[in-house]
Amino acid sequence: MDFKIAVLPGDGIGPEISEQGVNVMTAVCNKFGHKVSYEYAICGADAIDKVGDPFPEETFKKCMDADAVLFSAVGDPKFDNNPNAKVRPEQGLLAMRKKLGLFANIRPIETFDCLVHKSPLKDELVRGADFICIRELTGGMYFGEKKEGVDYAYDTNAYSREEVVRILKEAYKYAQQRNKHLTVVDKANVLASSRLWRAVAQEMAPQYPDVKTDFMYVDNASMRMIQEPKFFDVMVTENTFGDILTDEGSCITGSMGLLPSASTGEHTPVFEPIHGSWPQAKGLNIANPLAQILSVAMLFEYFGLKAEGKIIREAVNASLDANVRTPEIQVEGGAKYGTKEVGAWIVDYINKK
Ligand code: IPM
Ligand code: MG
Repeated sequence: MDFKIAVLPGDGIGPEISEQGVNVMTAVCNKFGHKVSYEYAICGADAIDKVGDPFPEETFKKCMDADAVLFSAVGDPKFDNNPNAKVRPEQGLLAMRKKLGLFANIRPIETFDCLVHKSPLKDELVRGADFICIRELTGGMYFGEKKEGVDYAYDTNAYSREEVVRILKEAYKYAQQRNKHLTVVDKANVLASSRLWRAVAQEMAPQYPDVKTDFMYVDNASMRMIQEPKFFDVMVTENTFGDILTDEGSCITGSMGLLPSASTGEHTPVFEPIHGSWPQAKGLNIANPLAQILSVAMLFEYFGLKAEGKIIREAVNASLDANVRTPEIQVEGGAKYGTKEVGAWIVDYINKK
């Protein structure tokens, strides 16, 4: 394949992990005979500082022109601590999702056996847990009508049938490829929007007789995720619930720095780590590049290139087994490796394979 990749390093540790993702992408392309070219573009706080817009038109054009976007992270404390800021880095992320029509956010919650001890949950509960959360990404409260007054404010949680159908189709597709169990997470006992989700899912379920569909209220799902994470195979939910549940999911694995994600929909798909910009670690060469590197694996898999994805996953597992790990997951007495060293080790593994 001839890949044209838009690279959006963003803020904080973004540029450091981005570099490792790009190096791995290049190594895999060389190995498998794919061509690849990169177009760098600004976003987030970096873009606000440079041009006053967290997702400038030029960045949008580069994304539209590419086959895929490799995104890293946005966010900067100088905006977090200023409630009066007119623009925020996060708005760039939301604009990207909306403008690229990325309605389906795929967040795998995967555990790594050698890191199970890092989980706040008991070993036997997490070992082998492996599910994906499909979060609707361009609707609901994030984008519904809002009012922000001094004494009164609201956000609207609106969904159309069409929006629900398209995300459920996506969820069924993943369930069919996995263990054929789909859990629709909603709050249909209280919310009208959730009752629409549930009605649509009930209508669609018979079209997928190979998949077992069940329904769970979001409060119950948040409990079940820590009580019995292995219950889940594919979970699908609306934007806000998905935001909350995936943070919960990422921490039960004990390794937020290892989880990649894909956002897909109408235009160019985006591949990114689920963690944020960790500004305190900026420039220190300590951030874990694995979530970004695994996002590259998801990128290849999205294009049906399984062997390319597999070699990356294999290299990541090998680096963990060899204790080539960034400080937050390093074993006691293990050697010191930084972002660059872990990335270079993985590239080397791929080259030698
Ligand atoms: C996420 C993040 C974003 C969201 C923020 C940064 C706007 O938390 O991708 O989960 O709320 O969607
Ligand atoms: Mg979130």
